Amino acid sequence: MRAAVITEPGGPEVFQVQEVPDPTPGPDEVLVAVKASALNRADLMQRRGRYNGPPGTRNDIPGLEMAGVVESVGERVVQWRPGDRVMALLGGMGYASKVAVHERMLMPVPPNLSFEEAASIPETFLTAYDALFLQCGLSMGESVLIHAAGSGVGTAGIQMAAAQGCRIFGTAGSQEKLDGAVELGMDIGINYREQDFAEVVQEQTGGGGVDVILDVIGAPYWDQNIASLAVKGRMVIVGSMGGGTVEKMAIGGLMQKRATVRGTLLRARPLEEKATLVQSFVHQVLPFFADETVRPVVDRVFPLEQTSEAHALMESNANFGKIVLKIDD
Ligand SMILES: NC(=O)c1ccc[n+]([C@@H]2O[C@H](COP(=O)([O-])OP(=O)(O)OC[C@H]3O[C@@H](n4cnc5c(N)ncnc54)[C@H](OP(=O)(O)O)[C@@H]3O)[C@@H](O)[C@H]2O)c1
Repeated sequence: MRAAVITEPGGPEVFQVQEVPDPTPGPDEVLVAVKASALNRADLMQRRGRYNGPPGTRNDIPGLEMAGVVESVGERVVQWRPGDRVMALLGGMGYASKVAVHERMLMPVPPNLSFEEAASIPETFLTAYDALFLQCGLSMGESVLIHAAGSGVGTAGIQMAAAQGCRIFGTAGSQEKLDGAVELGMDIGINYREQDFAEVVQEQTGGGGVDVILDVIGAPYWDQNIASLAVKGRMVIVGSMGGGTVEKMAIGGLMQKRATVRGTLLRARPLEEKATLVQSFVHQVLPFFADETVRPVVDRVFPLEQTSEAHALMESNANFGKIVLKIDD
């Protein structure tokens, strides 16, 4: 099969498309001919040699999600047949023309979506769904603050929160991204380069704060995040793009607010936990794609041969939504 391979740890230029051995599916696995994959922030770290995949994956082939067509099924597979259009979260190796996936990890591609659109769903929508709804219990009518509103995770979270009738605050570094996020259902956009988001949240909530925060920035936002939480507020930390070490953390605010802070990672979870999440998503969220209440947000599609250009785009922070790799027609 073809794959975009990291030839050595380094910058975006290190990718090369090479012929590599096909995966060998087990009895519970499905062999998928991959049509499209998509980039995630973790891929940038993997490319630099700082984030290895779980056992069974090659560290030199990143890729946490894909969409494609079932080519063959293992002897114990019951849910899928050759020809089915599927998409899935992967432990790695999605930048390749074939993947082997456990049958319980596969989801059907909604008929109204292309493979490029479908490939941009699994990692960011599952992450945001799990973080907001399963971990923080975000419910109808509550308020939520979503950082990096123009990111893959942010654009997914905003749409699902909007579908629940939540009041949505979001931060981003440009007016263009904030405008795009408003189109997806965000109510109040805050340009973090120009405004203190905690002040805006306080003003707009009459000092009450937000019920839930989805954070991907980490350390530099800690104090402002705690200041923005409502009493009994819940915050989930999904990324640490701004830094991972909080100096002089003040615990008093957390106690006064009886707030909950949790962290989460998808990739390292055992198969059973991921499969349970996937099944919940299929029932609770997938129908919203069919009626277009939520939609994949694709910034740009690159052919596999231009994986380096795709990585350079993500590293420049210019993308709104997902960057997709088209692998086969
Ligand atoms: N825990 C998990 O399982 C899991 C799963 C998926 C993703 N994640 C994490 O979620 C985060 C978002 O991933 P993604 O793939 O959705 O990202 P993405 O589409 O590449 O978007 C990232 C955006 O965040 C903003 N940003 C970057 N560094 C920043 C900083 N220091 N301060 C403020 N804003 C910054 C930039 O937009 P602006 O123009 O607004 O600055 C950038 O375009 C990453 O941290 C990723 O590792 C975690």
